[in-house]
Amino acid sequence: MERYLRTPIKEVIGRFPDVGRILDAAGIGCVPCSVGTCLLSDVVEIHNLSGDEERELLGRIAAVLYPGQVVPLPERRRSGPAGPRRIAYSPPMKRLVDEHKRIMRFVALIPAIARTFDAASEEHRQMILRGVDFIRSYADRFHHAKEEDILFGYFDPNLDILMAMHEDHRKGRDHVKNLLDALDRRDKKGVAASLGGYAAVLTEHIKKEDEILYPWMDRNLSTRQVGEMFERFREVDEKFEEARRKHEEFLDGIEGKFKTVEVTK
Ligand SMILES: [Fe+2]
Ligand SMILES: [Fe+2]
Repeated sequence: MERYLRTPIKEVIGRFPDVGRILDAAGIGCVPCSVGTCLLSDVVEIHNLSGDEERELLGRIAAVLYPGQVVPLPERRRSGPAGPRRIAYSPPMKRLVDEHKRIMRFVALIPAIARTFDAASEEHRQMILRGVDFIRSYADRFHHAKEEDILFGYFDPNLDILMAMHEDHRKGRDHVKNLLDALDRRDKKGVAASLGGYAAVLTEHIKKEDEILYPWMDRNLSTRQVGEMFERFREVDEKFEEARRKHEEFLDGIEGKFKTVEVTK
C-alpha cells in the first residue's frame, strides 16, 4: 500500500481507473485535474478527512489495488489535526474567503446577465464592461494577485495544487478576453458562452480554495508566517480601499437591478 501512496495519482488512476471513481465519489476530484502529479498520499492528506473517512477511503482503494487480499492500512502522519470538516480559517485566510463571497455575489448574477443581454443596447454593453472592470480589478488584480504574490509564495511553486490554481486563474483571464472580443462583435451567444465559462471556472475554483487549499495551507503555515501574511495583506488592502468601495457600490447596484428584473418578470 505504501508503494502506491508514494505514486503520482495520475499514474495510479491510469493503471486502476476504479481508484479515480472512488476518489470522485468521495468528492475528491482528481480525475479532472489537469496537472495530476500529486502523490496518492498527498491527495489523502490535503483533504483532511476524519480518521474514519480516511480509513474507509483507503480500504476501498486497497480493495482495488490488491483484489481479494487483506492488506494493512498505513497510519497516516499528519501536519495538523484531522477532520471532521469544521473550517476555522486563520485571520488572513478569512479575508480571502470574504473576498470570495464578493466575487461569488457577482458570479451569482451571471446567468441573469447573460440571459437578458441585448447586444444592440449600449446600456447593456456598458454593464458588461463594468462587470469586466470588477472581475479584472477586484477578482484578478486585487484578490488573485494577493494569492499569487503573497500566499502562494509560502509554498513550493511546483506543488500540483498550486499549478492547478494558477491554471484556473489563467482560464478565468482567457474567458474575460473572449468576453471582450464577443462584446466587440456584438455576439450575444459568444458573450453568454464566455460569461458562463467564467462563472463555471470561478465557482469550482473558489470551492476548491475554500474547502481544500486554504484549510490545508493554514495547517502548514507557522504562526509567524500567518502574522506576516496578515500584515502584508493589510498593506495591499489599504492601497486598494478606494477601489474596493467602488466595487462594493457596483455590486449593490447590479444586485438591486437584477432583483428588480426578477420581481417584475
Ligand atoms: Fe485563486
Ligand atoms: Fe481565491
